[in-house]
Amino acid sequence: MSSSVSKMRIITTIAEAQAQPQAKRRVLVPTMGALHKAHGEMVRVARKHAGHDGEVALSIFVNPLQFEPGSDYERYPRLEKTDEEFCRNAGVDLLFRPGVAEMYANDRSVFVEESSFSNRLEGKSRPRHFRGVCTVVAKLFNILSPDAALFGEKDFQQLVIVRRMVRDLNFKTDIIAVPTMREEDGLACSSRNQYLNIEERKQAPVLHRALLAAANAGNKSAREIVDLVSKVIDEAPLARIDYVEVADSETLQPVETVRPNSLLALAVSFGKTRLIDNIRLG
Ligand code: PAJ
Repeated sequence: MSSSVSKMRIITTIAEAQAQPQAKRRVLVPTMGALHKAHGEMVRVARKHAGHDGEVALSIFVNPLQFEPGSDYERYPRLEKTDEEFCRNAGVDLLFRPGVAEMYANDRSVFVEESSFSNRLEGKSRPRHFRGVCTVVAKLFNILSPDAALFGEKDFQQLVIVRRMVRDLNFKTDIIAVPTMREEDGLACSSRNQYLNIEERKQAPVLHRALLAAANAGNKSAREIVDLVSKVIDEAPLARIDYVEVADSETLQPVETVRPNSLLALAVSFGKTRLIDNIRLG
């Protein structure tokens, strides 16, 4: 075991986290655990941004506020020991792993709500989701005071909304985007991929093939792109499309003509598992 491996501090209370001596520069990777190679890549990028005398903090908290009633909150994978090992091996300095009662008072009554982007795309099927995300991310920023925090482009809408929250509420945390990491067959890494059965897992890479078909389609209207993507996805018998949309990557508003800053975003279910993915077009 190298010294950096044995050094990781594990903290479960807010009081302890706020009493921690602050390194010169702290870079935070917020997660819900069930860590996979995209989280590992985020720790690697965080380390680069932290510099040699800075520190990498990673939080694991399955945030009940961002799950819709009846969705997968209860069955979301909780892999305490495996995740802890993952963090040690990845070189995390500080693991913040609070319980629900630590994070939320029963009579909580203040939430952080972004009101321009949150009801589009994911927000249509998950009306409370981004309020839950903004609230927990704001709390994590107040608890851990990170100089920078990393967010993945896989959850592109989350990234845009967190950036807006930081701007509008004057958080002093820089937001760093991390490109989408994929499995060898193109499926975007996700903690939810482990819900897929063998047949669903076999068909799921159709999402990436559909995104690539769109990116290579050249000068087409948004309508034609959506039709093309839907047709490719429909070739997978187990896929059920929730949405396929072309939007502006800054405002998330729908666009009719594909431009260099357009984003193609989709959500597709395989059985009970809902996957999201996106690609830049143009
Ligand atoms: P979680 O799904 O655990 O993801 C943690 C971070 O990893 C997010 O920023 C997410 O965008 C990023 N990520 C996940 N899969 C990725 C992939 N394949 N490529 C690149 N980045 C990827 O997102 C959340 O948790 C929560 O909403 C959270 C921000 C922690 C708030 O609760």
